[in-house]
Amino acid sequence: MPNKIIIAIDGYSSCGKSTLAKALATKLSYVFIDTGAMYRAIALYFLRNGIDFENEIEINNALQNIKLNFVYNQATLKSDMVLNGENVEAEIREMRVSEKVSEVATIGAVRDFAVAQQQVMGESKGIVMDGRDIGTVVFPTAELKIFVTADPAIRVERRFLELQATNPTIRKQEIEENLQHRDLMDTTRERSPLKQAADAIVLDNSQMTREEQFNLALSWALAKIG
Ligand code: DC
Repeated sequence: MPNKIIIAIDGYSSCGKSTLAKALATKLSYVFIDTGAMYRAIALYFLRNGIDFENEIEINNALQNIKLNFVYNQATLKSDMVLNGENVEAEIREMRVSEKVSEVATIGAVRDFAVAQQQVMGESKGIVMDGRDIGTVVFPTAELKIFVTADPAIRVERRFLELQATNPTIRKQEIEENLQHRDLMDTTRERSPLKQAADAIVLDNSQMTREEQFNLALSWALAKIG
């Protein structure tokens, strides 16, 4: 397809953003970037190395030692997060990372570090990126911006089913509390809080199947690509 565009997908945690972004990217032969995975990998590095989230010097030193990249996984047909050469895709989804990632994502130096890399990834367009600030900060001129929402109870249920596969003892209440905490942190932080861009299209997928959501978003993308 000659006319490549940038598709920015933002929204709350566990709304199905990544599933939608990945499906769109596959269909359009675009690159898919899950920016949440980048913040999770940074949080994992901070946790492993006992970085004090309040100490700017420690944070800046740590960021200099972090190299992030994605590697395509033939088994799952999606990209895995690689932190300093180590595939950390499974570990970054663990609860101990989920509990700290929103806090790490409030740190200005962390956001500068991640956003600069994301902007380079989108230089030649043909990209679907999902996160919280993609349509507002990373690519404010993206041709298509989608803001995904879903009923909170439905988000908890979806996350529960997803996590149960690897963690059979996980409790719904734990997930609910974590989502509420992350929503609050993501929407109230000083630096680039989660908010709908003025020119974003809202997609409430509470009552939609994955396929319905995909078909709708694809029609918007194809209209923009022309
Ligand atoms: O999409 P996710 O749940 O994996 O994201 C993990 C956290 O990273 C989320 O709580 C907020 C943060 N995040 C962010 O601040 N900006 C982004 N562009 C993506 C994620």
